Amino acid sequence: MTAEDFIPSSDSYLNNSKTIQSGSFTWSSPSNIALVKYWGKRQNQIPENPSISFTLDHCKTTTTLSFFKKEDSNDFSFEVFLDGEKKADFKPKIETFFNRVENYLPFLKDYHFKIETSNTFPHSSGIASSASGMSALALCLMSLEKTLSQAVSEVYFTKKASFLARLGSGSACRSLEGDLVVWGKHEDIEGSSDLYGVKYPYEVHDNFKNYYDTILLVDKGEKQVSSTIGHNLMYGHPFAQERFKQAHKNLSDITSILKEGDLDKFIALVESEALTLHAMMMTSLPYFILMKPNTLEIINKIWEFRKTTGSKVCFTLDAGANVHVLYPENEVDFITKFINTELVAFCQKGEYINDKIGFGAKLL
Ligand code: PMV
Repeated sequence: MTAEDFIPSSDSYLNNSKTIQSGSFTWSSPSNIALVKYWGKRQNQIPENPSISFTLDHCKTTTTLSFFKKEDSNDFSFEVFLDGEKKADFKPKIETFFNRVENYLPFLKDYHFKIETSNTFPHSSGIASSASGMSALALCLMSLEKTLSQAVSEVYFTKKASFLARLGSGSACRSLEGDLVVWGKHEDIEGSSDLYGVKYPYEVHDNFKNYYDTILLVDKGEKQVSSTIGHNLMYGHPFAQERFKQAHKNLSDITSILKEGDLDKFIALVESEALTLHAMMMTSLPYFILMKPNTLEIINKIWEFRKTTGSKVCFTLDAGANVHVLYPENEVDFITKFINTELVAFCQKGEYINDKIGFGAKLL
């Protein structure tokens, strides 16, 4: 599919007499954690390399989109609320998103929207809400399009929602379906696309079913560097091309790892991806470090624990200081104890969030 395939034809909406006057939709959409990371993008939110993520279960955004038809269609008209509180500072991001998607949702200026959103994780936890937030909003808008249009199949609905979410925040396009999602064209992965995320289409060993992710909140502050700035620093980065090649190779490698259930190879690939992401940040100009001393303390504790116990626990990182501790289901009790006795001391206020692989967004 191409981007043009998501532009509705002029006759695809019902005639005006039947046009919906008002209504509302509510979607709950999960966050995701990348195993092979996306870092670097081209124009229109096209990723420089393909990525794959686990969809999470607990960390979610719930968004209600209420709308009524306006008298005119001159401008976007919307208001945003977080946990019931009006958020004027969220408006510019949504305005940018509306501008990017208007071509694909030609009804956007016909309605006034009230966007009410809430997260299951604290806003100031250092966990980005852009992936779950943008995918929930994209799904609400697709529910409206589906009501207005005669020709929206289930497959098209999900693809287009992911396509729209990508235009809000790249990794958001991996936050619709479970439990593993690929975004970015890769020659070994059938159906993969730079335009939207697709459910990982191949066999996955039982070792990876019900994988757990405990997010250790090392630094709950605002990110020092936005991911937009970080992605842009990959332009002209001395190691960019090698990094993009490596991501392609890692995605090829992870398909056999997922099939065979090889946890040792999984650990090596996932940890290397996390450190490579941060290495890219440390070697860009300007350079920056998002890890904190406690991030490194936790990483060292995990390595030591693995060495002494033979556990299959590992870590990954996002663009921040928090550590995602990943482990298979059969180690839950063992790792919970390890976290509570050895890792919690490195978390800000001792806080962490228990999560696991999830099965995607839901219409409520
Ligand atoms: O979706 P963005 O533009 O916020 O970028 C997120 C990139 C990482 O989270 C660091 C990696 C990834 O693939 O999710």
